Amino acid sequence: MRVLVTGGAGFIGSEFVRQGVERGYEIAVLDKLTYAGDMARLEDVKDKISFYRCDVTNREFVEHVFSVEKPDVVVHFAAESHVDRSILDATPFLDTNIKGTQVMLDAARRFGVSLFVNIATDEVYGELGESGHFYENTPLNPNSPYSVSKAAADMLGRAYYRTYRLPVVTVRPCNNYGPWQYPEKLVPVVILRALRNQEVPVYGRGENVREWLYVGDCAEAIWTVVERGKAGEIYNVGSGQERRNIEVVKTILSIMGKPESLITFVKDRPGHDFRYSLCSEKIKKELGWEAKTEFEEGMEKTVRWYLEHRDWLESKAQELEELWRRVYKK
Ligand SMILES: NC(=O)c1ccc[n+]([C@@H]2O[C@H](COP(=O)([O-])OP(=O)(O)OC[C@H]3O[C@@H](n4cnc5c(N)ncnc54)[C@H](O)[C@@H]3O)[C@@H](O)[C@H]2O)c1
Repeated sequence: MRVLVTGGAGFIGSEFVRQGVERGYEIAVLDKLTYAGDMARLEDVKDKISFYRCDVTNREFVEHVFSVEKPDVVVHFAAESHVDRSILDATPFLDTNIKGTQVMLDAARRFGVSLFVNIATDEVYGELGESGHFYENTPLNPNSPYSVSKAAADMLGRAYYRTYRLPVVTVRPCNNYGPWQYPEKLVPVVILRALRNQEVPVYGRGENVREWLYVGDCAEAIWTVVERGKAGEIYNVGSGQERRNIEVVKTILSIMGKPESLITFVKDRPGHDFRYSLCSEKIKKELGWEAKTEFEEGMEKTVRWYLEHRDWLESKAQELEELWRRVYKK
């Protein structure tokens, strides 16, 4: 089976590619290599895959890749993925996430595929209070420019299934963490700043709740969907392991042996969703997948990985100073 992976040089996409190579799939990666993309993530498998540096909004180049690779399956990860950046400027989010998804869906229609896996997010559902869960049929109610662009892409995929019978399956994972995550997201931000004994910024009072999924488990779930998922269906991919942001930060500091006095509460993110929580019974019952990694175990593995790859982490630090200055305000 030939699998075309967009965004395969990103955090989750690269883990998915590494697992796919191990499973013996023929893989082609299509990635623009934005600030978030990095070929270092694919170093171990680079001789076993094909790679195209290509923007998903570039219809001509995308069609060229389809004509050369003739993929059976497309797994579409490529996206602008950081909520804070979408608040600073929504434009690249609407371009890549919505128009780019349209280009990919059109190419899949034109060239024919047996499955198009559209990677969405739990953020499309909006926010929850202290209780309750999101189910696959919960109406979408996104709140940030990022989640609105992802909801549009999600719905577009389902429209192509309904209208053209393109075999689209939609996957909505919760918050991922693990090796190779770009240090603009909470977990690697904490690790990087704590390593440098810098203040660790936490939005509001750190009360917001997220469901935390180890990236290796997420990639396995998506391979399960590739192998056994049904076109037209939606699958939530969660771990059931909810933590407040402040608990996440304290867990990381404790693993690193750093003092909690590094924590600095900063002005809350505008429109910050309070809580996300997925019901993931469907993928468990129908496809037999469930998350294996406990939060504390996954966090220990993650911290260890960053300590062993400190150079990579530090190499990103300089370009982040400006972003941090703009989003973390006292
Ligand atoms: N990280 C999470 O916690 C999480 C949770 C749920 C869903 N998701 C979704 O999973 C997918 C992957 O997330 P991630 O965290 O790995 O993101 P990431 O930001 O680490 O990687 C995104 C990748 O897409 C590439 N890309 C961006 N714009 C592109 C364009 N116009 N054309 C081609 N490639 C482009 C980047 O170069 C990068 O390699 C995204 O669709 C995201 O919305 C992520």
